[in-house]
Amino acid sequence: MHQTFRILAAVSLVVAATTSLYAYAHGNVVPQAVDTTGLTPLGDKWLEQNPYRGNKLALKIGSSAYNQNCARCHGLEAVTGGIAPDLRMLDRDCTDVKNENKKKACYKETDNYYLTSIRHGKVRNGAVYMPPFEGVFNQEAMWAIKTYLEARRDDAK
Ligand code: HEC
Repeated sequence: MHQTFRILAAVSLVVAATTSLYAYAHGNVVPQAVDTTGLTPLGDKWLEQNPYRGNKLALKIGSSAYNQNCARCHGLEAVTGGIAPDLRMLDRDCTDVKNENKKKACYKETDNYYLTSIRHGKVRNGAVYMPPFEGVFNQEAMWAIKTYLEARRDDAK
């Protein structure tokens, strides 16, 4: 497993080097397309909650999409190197909530916050801390990544 990641990391370094001219010209790294074939299509309306929670295929797609598009800032396997927030912690406040209804409401709120964050990115005073992903990949890919992050959550306990 880790060996695979090392090889992947080496390969992506080479790819990054060869595409860096393009990247510099655009001031950013080119995002990788995410193939969401096989996932239930979600349509045009933005959902308020992750429809794929616990879905195996979403987990697989999300894992690859995360590691190609988010890991360079949020860390490989969602273990942050300190630059950007540790995304395993996103739902952390909800897991301990005892009341089931409050717990559900808590997850929903985090889902909403997550979706807004990746759709619009994080921009403060004109500085782009995180690029927006709306228009880069579809809603299916966004929730697939959330499904992956939920699976990583338990690792941070
Ligand atoms: C260029 C670096 C970069 C990339 C790429 C990036 N992020 Fe971020 N992200 C950040 C930074 C920095 C912050 C914190 C911004 C702030 O403090 O306002 C952040 C914040 C977030 C937050 C809010 C977290 C919190 O605890 O408030 C979420 C959710 C998030 N990112 C998800 C993603 C996902 C999913 C991807 C991949 C699709 C991604 N990010 C790609 C840098 C990045």
